[in-house]
Amino acid sequence: MESETVAVKVKVGSEGRPALTVIPKHVAIIMDGNGRWAKKRFLPRVEGHRNGAKSVRSTVEEARRLGVRYLTLFAFSTENWRRPSDEVGGLMQLFVRHLESELDVLLKNGVRLRAMGDIDRLPEGVRDLLKRNEEKTKHLDGMDLILAVSYGGRDEVVQAMKKIGRAIKAGEVDPESITEEMVSSSLYLPDVPDPDLLIRTSDETRISNFLLWQLAYAEIVVTSVLWPDFTTDEFHRCLHVFAGRNRRFGRTQEQIDGK
Ligand code: FPP
Repeated sequence: MESETVAVKVKVGSEGRPALTVIPKHVAIIMDGNGRWAKKRFLPRVEGHRNGAKSVRSTVEEARRLGVRYLTLFAFSTENWRRPSDEVGGLMQLFVRHLESELDVLLKNGVRLRAMGDIDRLPEGVRDLLKRNEEKTKHLDGMDLILAVSYGGRDEVVQAMKKIGRAIKAGEVDPESITEEMVSSSLYLPDVPDPDLLIRTSDETRISNFLLWQLAYAEIVVTSVLWPDFTTDEFHRCLHVFAGRNRRFGRTQEQIDGK
């Protein structure tokens, strides 16, 4: 599903950058580098995550202000379950605290919270708060904040295949009629368009099992900044890099120019 980007006149950045930039409709972020941030300061890893939560707040507020319609944050992967139990426990506690404290901010800013992933694997406290915040914000349409928690891209594709497989077994779908659209609409959040921009922090250049199907045509911007240091200004810089990219979706430049 190709998403449309929208050109909006917004004040983006203060360092002599032009005020007009193209705001992507859907921004996805791999928030990496919390552990390194903590290690540099001789702090426990969970301190990095705690400071990362501050960047989450400022990025959500700024994305909303700029008119980003969907913001997807990779908060916890299926692979992250393999981390030491004290780190996993610390992250779960942090999710609880964040979900409790941020509800008012979401309501004030017209932000709808949505979760994607294998939610049933999460501790009951996290699951209940996710569901409560989803319920309380479901009428809001300023921006969708999508938290990918206990999320794996391959996992998502497998559950989509199971859905389609069941429909075939029930005689509702002919395997020959399967289309890309059918696969897209069997994913966790079928109404959400594919990301236009993927930002990954801390200089890592991997996709790491994030939105494998949906990122097919996303522009990828990698920044060396560690996630707890990801400021609004760095977010603006990433948006300017995106605005300077030439998206052709497999077509030639002449086709795009209509020549
Ligand atoms: C990756 O950094 C980050 C995570 C596994 C967790 C992301 C979680 C947060 C930013 C906490 C707050 C989030 C919400 C939604 C409240 P890493 O630990 O892999 O860093 P490293 O590569 O430097 O070790």
